[in-house]
Amino acid sequence: TRTIYTAGRPPWYNSAGQQVEPFVIGICGGSASGKTTVATKIIESLDVPWVTLLSMDSFYKVLNEKQHEMAARNEYNFDHPDAFDFELLKTTLQRLKEGRMVEVPIYNFVTHRRESRTKTMYGANVIIFEGILTFYNVDVLKMCDMKVFVDTDADVRLARRLRRDISQRGRDLEGVLKQYSTMVQPAFYYYIAPLMVHADIIVPRGGDNEVAIELIVQHVHTQLQLRGFKLREKLAHSYIGQPLP
Ligand code: CTP
Repeated sequence: TRTIYTAGRPPWYNSAGQQVEPFVIGICGGSASGKTTVATKIIESLDVPWVTLLSMDSFYKVLNEKQHEMAARNEYNFDHPDAFDFELLKTTLQRLKEGRMVEVPIYNFVTHRRESRTKTMYGANVIIFEGILTFYNVDVLKMCDMKVFVDTDADVRLARRLRRDISQRGRDLEGVLKQYSTMVQPAFYYYIAPLMVHADIIVPRGGDNEVAIELIVQHVHTQLQLRGFKLREKLAHSYIGQPLP
């Protein structure tokens, strides 16, 4: 469900009428490591009314014709930092942090294009921001109050990626393996794995790790309470970025 706030005091204000700054959780990790599952489980366990899930996929740059042809041959590097529009990402996250409304692009992995419609997102009590390079840009990193790295074995990630890209992203076996060995795997070791040094918490095995998720949730509750936010019954969630399983 998604309740759109229309009148009165926004729910991210505390009882004293002061705006409670959203708590931003950055989730980073290799492709198909289970970042979305971790984010979803955190949302399910959080006792706060407004949670927003923002995915880095929404910030893939728009490709030109030549780049589209490369993507069709599995030769465009979607794992390189240059593939992302970090400026748009920064302003979007900043606005959300200020409790303002934003329009976020919707990305289509089959066509490698942004959909013509966008998703409207609102400020929230907790903002979860997930992706392969969420800790790459220093300004974005500074906006994260808690940094989580999902550390899942490479063989598990490859197996998941094969299944997902073939069943949901319109790819074939040869294409996925070619893209993985030439771009996904090198980018993981060159750009993504070194970002682990920024993490406050490293979650082995991803979404299966119930203890890690519980610890994260406890920390978020404590931090929100310190900011003057009263925990109360869950009202609604705002799931933005990509559909939940
Ligand atoms: N990608 C692609 N084609 C595109 C755009 C992105 O194949 N047109 C791939 C990139 O190669 C990158 C991956 O998408 O490695 C990023 O998505 P990923 O992190 O795997 O997906 P999430 O669902 O966000 O992550 P997780 O499985 O961890 O939940």
